[in-house]
This record gives sequence, C-alpha cells and structure tokens, in this order.
Amino acid sequence: MSEPTAGGIPKLRVSGLHVTYRSREGQDVEAVRGVDFTIANKPDVGEIVVFLGPSGCGKSTILKAVAGLLPPTRGEVLVDGEPVTGVGRDRGMVFQAYTSFAWLTVRKNVEYGLRLQGIPKPQRREEAEKYLEAVGLKDFADKYPKALSGGMKQRVAIARTLINKPKLLLMDEPFGALDPQTRWGMQGLLIDITRREDNTILFVTHDVSEAVYLADTVFVLAPRPTRVLHRVEVPHFERRDLALKSTDPFRDCEKQLLDLLYAKLPPQG
Ligand SMILES: Nc1ncnc2c1ncn2[C@@H]1O[C@H](COP(=O)(O)OP(=O)(O)OP(=O)(O)O)[C@@H](O)[C@H]1O
Ligand SMILES: [Mg+2]
Repeated sequence: MSEPTAGGIPKLRVSGLHVTYRSREGQDVEAVRGVDFTIANKPDVGEIVVFLGPSGCGKSTILKAVAGLLPPTRGEVLVDGEPVTGVGRDRGMVFQAYTSFAWLTVRKNVEYGLRLQGIPKPQRREEAEKYLEAVGLKDFADKYPKALSGGMKQRVAIARTLINKPKLLLMDEPFGALDPQTRWGMQGLLIDITRREDNTILFVTHDVSEAVYLADTVFVLAPRPTRVLHRVEVPHFERRDLALKSTDPFRDCEKQLLDLLYAKLPPQG
C-alpha cells in the first residue's frame, strides 16, 4: 500500500520492507512481510502517525528498521529522500524497554544529547529544566535512575529524546508503564510538541483509545508477519482533552479501528 504524496520529497518512505530474524537455533522468524507506506513532509504542521497492531506482529521491528538499528532483509527506508544506513541525529527513538544511563543522574541523562552537540552548560541546564518540568521530574533531577519507578524511568527516556528535537521521532509503546493520569498528561505533551516543533512522530501502540487520541493517521497492522492492512485518517478534533474520549465521534473512531483490527484477514499471497 503506497500513497501518492502531494509534491515534494516525503518525510519517510518505506517500500517493500521485509525483515526475517534468524534465531540462534538457525530458525527463520519472518516478522515483516512487505510493508509499504509514505508519510508526506508537511512543513509547519506536525503529524502523529500511529502503528496499531497486535502483540508480536512486528511493530518494534518496523521502528528499528526506520531508526537504522536493524538492516532490512529486503526493501528500503528513505528519510527525506535519503536511504537509511544506520542511526542518525535526525531520528530519535524512545524504546519499549527503558533505556538511560545508570551512571548519570536524571538531569545529566536529559542533558546528554545537548552535551554531545557541544551546547554550553548553562544553556543545557536551562533546556533540561524545561523538559524535566514537562515530564514531571523536576524534583528528581539529581537522583540516579535506579531510585526511580519504571514509569518515571520511562519519562526520563522520553525527556532525553525530546530535548534533541528530532524531526522524526520514533516511539515504541512509550507510555505502557504509566498510570492513566500520567499517561494522559504525556499524550497531551506529545500533541503540544508536534504542533510546536512540526516534527513527525511514529508512535507504536496496541491501545485503540490512545491511537485515536494521538493520531492524525493510523496504520492498522496485520499479525506476524506484518504488513499494513489499512490507513485510517482520524477526524480532526478541535479540542483534545479527557472529555473528548466519551464523545460519539471519538467512540465511533475507536469502533472503526477495533473492527479493522479484529476483522477476519483475507489469505496472504
Ligand atoms: N531478535 C530476534 N530474534 C528472533 N525473533 C525475533 C527477534 N526480535 C523479534 N522477533 C520476533 O519477531 C516478531 C515481531 O517482534 P516485534 O518485537 O517486532 O513485535 P511487536 O509487534 O513489537 O510486539 P509487542 O507489541 O509485544 O512489543 C515476534 O514474533 C518476535 O518473536
Ligand atoms: Mg514491540
């Protein structure tokens, strides 16, 4: 499934992506079978694209291929028209499992990317302070990750990725470990960030409600070996707040996605 883009080089183009893992025992596990999609470059308008699919279907595998962490078995990934051959600063990734440096404090973890870029300390501090505040961890800035809960660690990982302002942000079930209230807060933060920084976010979830709340576009994925079954444009909700979740248009969209997700699949060629 590929969509024409209205002029210009697309932000992301994935064509004929196949990924087969070889296990230690020498067995092949086909995770991704022919994934094609295009995400247009929309300057000045952020976009959140959600990948919705059942557990084990191949969602993390697709994100890792886009991140440049996993070479495709076949197919191609182009970011801004350039083939992806490895990781790059233009792409930021928040992993499904928490990843931060255990030997650095929360603040230094968040500042890390800016330090790599050679940003002077006072500026780094100021920037880090903003992101720590945004993820609700200001009071924990001088703690080490081991002193934090799973959800707090995940928020450190989110802040340390956001601070680099990547134009393409890859987020793999980033809010899975958060309680509902913190999760809603983080979803709101993400929407604000895309609008402000006009970046493209690829967001993986298996939570239908989260998909409708966040997404401009949803790709519904097939079970493993995965491929894109449907592309759904989510209606533009003027106000995104908690009350939205109990409105008819929101519930209708949830139902549409659930039906697509659990529909009987046609046989694969
Ligand atoms: N390193 C690996 N070696 C062998 N098989 C793997 C490897 N990584 C993933 N797989 C297999 O590939 C398939 C897709 O895995 P992937 O992690 O992409 O799924 P997912 O959609 O992200 O699942 P979840 O929602 O549970 O995170 C699974 O069947 C998994 O067992
Ligand atoms: Mg996964």
